Amino acid sequence: MPQWLKDAVFYEIYPQSFYDANGDGIGDFEGIMRKLDYIRDLGCNALWINPCFDSPFKDAGYDVRDYKKTAPRYGSNDDLCRLFAEAHRRRMRVLLDLVPGHTSEEHLWFRESRKAEKNEYSHRYIWSDSWIAWGLEGLRFIAGESERNGVYIINFFKSQPALNYGFLRPREPWQLPADHAESIATREALKDIMRFWLDAGCDGFRVDMADSLVKFDDEEKSGTQAVWRNIRAMLDSDYPEAALVSEWGNPFQALAAGFHMDFLLDHDHSGYRSLVRDFGYGPDNLPLGENNSFFKSGGRGDITRFLDQYLPWYEAAKGKGYISLITGNHDTPRISAGLDERELALAYALFLSFPGVPFIYYGDEIGMRYLPGLPSKEGGYTRTGSRTPMQWNEDSGGTANKGFSAAAPESLYLPVDPLPGAPTVEAQKDDPASLLNTVRSLLALRHGEPDLQAEPNLEILYAEKEKLPFVYRRGAFVLALNPGAAPARAPVSVAGARLVFSIGGAALEGGVCALEARSFGVWKTGT
Ligand code: GLC
Ligand code: CA
Repeated sequence: MPQWLKDAVFYEIYPQSFYDANGDGIGDFEGIMRKLDYIRDLGCNALWINPCFDSPFKDAGYDVRDYKKTAPRYGSNDDLCRLFAEAHRRRMRVLLDLVPGHTSEEHLWFRESRKAEKNEYSHRYIWSDSWIAWGLEGLRFIAGESERNGVYIINFFKSQPALNYGFLRPREPWQLPADHAESIATREALKDIMRFWLDAGCDGFRVDMADSLVKFDDEEKSGTQAVWRNIRAMLDSDYPEAALVSEWGNPFQALAAGFHMDFLLDHDHSGYRSLVRDFGYGPDNLPLGENNSFFKSGGRGDITRFLDQYLPWYEAAKGKGYISLITGNHDTPRISAGLDERELALAYALFLSFPGVPFIYYGDEIGMRYLPGLPSKEGGYTRTGSRTPMQWNEDSGGTANKGFSAAAPESLYLPVDPLPGAPTVEAQKDDPASLLNTVRSLLALRHGEPDLQAEPNLEILYAEKEKLPFVYRRGAFVLALNPGAAPARAPVSVAGARLVFSIGGAALEGGVCALEARSFGVWKTGT
């Protein structure tokens, strides 16, 4: 386990939309480099950068055409290596996004694989042995697109053919077992890509759809787990400081597979959703109706819905790895949808004071908004509204684009939030009560106290169904949160409690923890 994860706080960067240094309307590596001081001063000491490799961008770069070459629109391989070096100079780490389950249909491997003549890459993807689709049993496939007599399996969009790591229980002759030489060759090719970037200076990977490798896997995903355990062994021996974080959504399975941490995600986790956006969802996965997030004052939030799901995972993760709480990501609606600024501050208070390794999605620290109704960009569909340019400055004196880019507004990758009240770094940076400075203070508190970092020392002191506040302990600290519209009290007896941080009014004395409406407190106990 890399020791640096204990005090890591990540900042997720969607490179298209962070900062455009050369004025062509799209973010780039140079832009990220120029904003590293901002990220470090916020209190984030690690980055996750969404895929930045050569790609036709039918899924925003999750369709990789060449794993070893950066997308020219962001800069060269050398620029990315400079970014690693600039981050390291500031004692920051950089995770790249590794897409192991599929490539772009334009990847050289696939262009070879689809040929009728047998070649080195014929088995790099999963092909049936007849142009008539049979024996597919629930696998999603494309037929009629190649000279090769067969149909091929896809992992996500049509443009993303699934790489072949074999089948746990093959049912047809064309389904190779997971220990077949061709399945192993795919795994080794993946390791070669990982070594390439680790040798170039990256600090590990966020792994896309990490559970999707071996097909017809069992419920435990034991076939896919075996692939990752083999890869983890390589890291342990050759790159012991490299971190591996999965988009798996099941910490039991992901940590057993060798990942150092796994995300709680909103598509599978009602517990996570009960925290951040407990709406009904409409047909396009768009939020409908009122938000019953735990943080919504006047809502019907309930912390036990989160804890019921989280605590078993938390217990199981002890000693194996961490659970990552996210403010959001490039696939989710922005957390600010349906929450006001104080509610957001209280949400971040919990996220940034919990065990595990937190992730902040760029712009969430200022409360950037989800932009509804944008035309889909690069396969984003309803995700597009969460991917708009970072809002750095106020527009004044003829500038537009909120400081994101010097390009004409109509040639930006995506439009900047055009509505009044769009938050910016500039407007918040000198206001001690701003969301931005609240996040800074919460992170400064965390970095200053090992008890408030990733290691599992959580004790629940008060968490009752449909009641407030929520009170928890971490080592020498007691923390209490009341997102409700009315004051709340709970019995909590501790010795020598000294308030070290608060949002709103909070007191802990005489065996009672008392919080004003919409407030949060942290006390250091003992002498
Ligand atoms: C993951 C990514 C998402 C992408 C998909 C396919 O869920 O986060 O953005 O579209 O995988 O690679
Ligand atoms: Ca640019």
